[in-house]
Amino acid sequence: MTPRRFVNLFPKKYIFQKLINYSLFKISYLLNLKKLIYLPVTMDVEPTTGCNFRCTMCQVSSPDFHSKNMELETFKKIIKENKQLIKIKLQGMGEPLVNKYLFEMIKFAKDYGVGTEIISNGSLLNEKNINFLLDNKLSKLTISIDGATKKTFENIRIKSNFDTVINNAKLFSNLIKKKIFRPEFSAWCTVQQENFNEVEEIAILCKNIGFDNLTFQVHLTGWGKDEWNKINENKKIEYKSLEIKKHFKNICEKYSNKNFKVDVFENNLLNFKKKCSWPINSSYLASTGDVVPCCIVGDPKVINYGNIKSQSFKEIWNSKAYYKLRDNIKNNQIDDFCKNCYREYTN
Ligand SMILES: C[S@@+](CC[C@H](N)C(=O)[O-])C[C@H]1O[C@@H](n2cnc3c(N)ncnc32)[C@H](O)[C@@H]1O
Ligand code: SF4
Ligand code: SF4
Repeated sequence: MTPRRFVNLFPKKYIFQKLINYSLFKISYLLNLKKLIYLPVTMDVEPTTGCNFRCTMCQVSSPDFHSKNMELETFKKIIKENKQLIKIKLQGMGEPLVNKYLFEMIKFAKDYGVGTEIISNGSLLNEKNINFLLDNKLSKLTISIDGATKKTFENIRIKSNFDTVINNAKLFSNLIKKKIFRPEFSAWCTVQQENFNEVEEIAILCKNIGFDNLTFQVHLTGWGKDEWNKINENKKIEYKSLEIKKHFKNICEKYSNKNFKVDVFENNLLNFKKKCSWPINSSYLASTGDVVPCCIVGDPKVINYGNIKSQSFKEIWNSKAYYKLRDNIKNNQIDDFCKNCYREYTN
């Protein structure tokens, strides 16, 4: 992490609340306390479930998936009640830039010393909104790059235009070069059979564009739903195979240097020893205001622990049902919607 990027991560307000909360989290973790004496350290906040793409592996493409923008008041409430947050990821099911209040949300979070990250499909960026993101000290922008060729990219990212996304990524890369302090700029590739043959070209493309790093996500989630588990089962690659692992290892080594890092995301490849930590250090606020455990589920219809429009976040965080999820994970009694994350239940 260079100092130019570190500055955008460092909170400038409510530092005391953030430090105390983080320390309590660490102490509870080390002492293995049953009762949580802190609030989440980070959170995903879903600005919208609306999207201008229809990617083949994403639940947003289901015909019955409803588009809903988060109201600004709901966003303000979650931030006001969670001054301890170090950062939020403004992402979820949908394209964050579809919500016209996104920029106001980023500014509001900044005023509470909360770092902001966005994961975007890259299609709606332009010079004006990029400059706003830079002026408001965005901590990190991630753009999804699921192909190195127009054909593969547009076959996966239905309704997309490869050239627009790549040109917007280049624009962002050029504009951050002029800044003394600037956000981290990341690429994210959701690997599947359709783009597996292009992973090396994707690394070259991302390096040439000027991304700081590229992550290959090698496991497709089914969003806790049988229907999507089935659809994505046929798309996923056999990452377990030693040959495939070696292929990724070679690419990571070949293309990583001090300015560009390539790695593989394995955090949702869990097992009874490497347990899920989402419900103990983070949370997910859906655009409806419902609190969901994580973005791997991302749909309150599958599971939610309450809505912040009618309850305080603290009440929901400390609810019996949320504790039950934590206990289940601790005791390896995995809830059905979590099973797709656990190697014990997937082949
Ligand atoms: C759901 S999208 C939301 C943000 C934005 N619309 C985008 O595409 O970057 C966040 C990330 O999840 C990835 N994704 C989509 N479907 C997935 C699946 N079934 N399993 C794992 N990741 C998936 C996307 O490719 C994207 O990188
Ligand atoms: S992955 Fe992102 S861009 Fe694609 S349909 Fe889902 S939300 Fe939209
Ligand atoms: S194990 Fe459960 S809570 Fe953890 S990431 Fe997976 S679905 Fe979410």
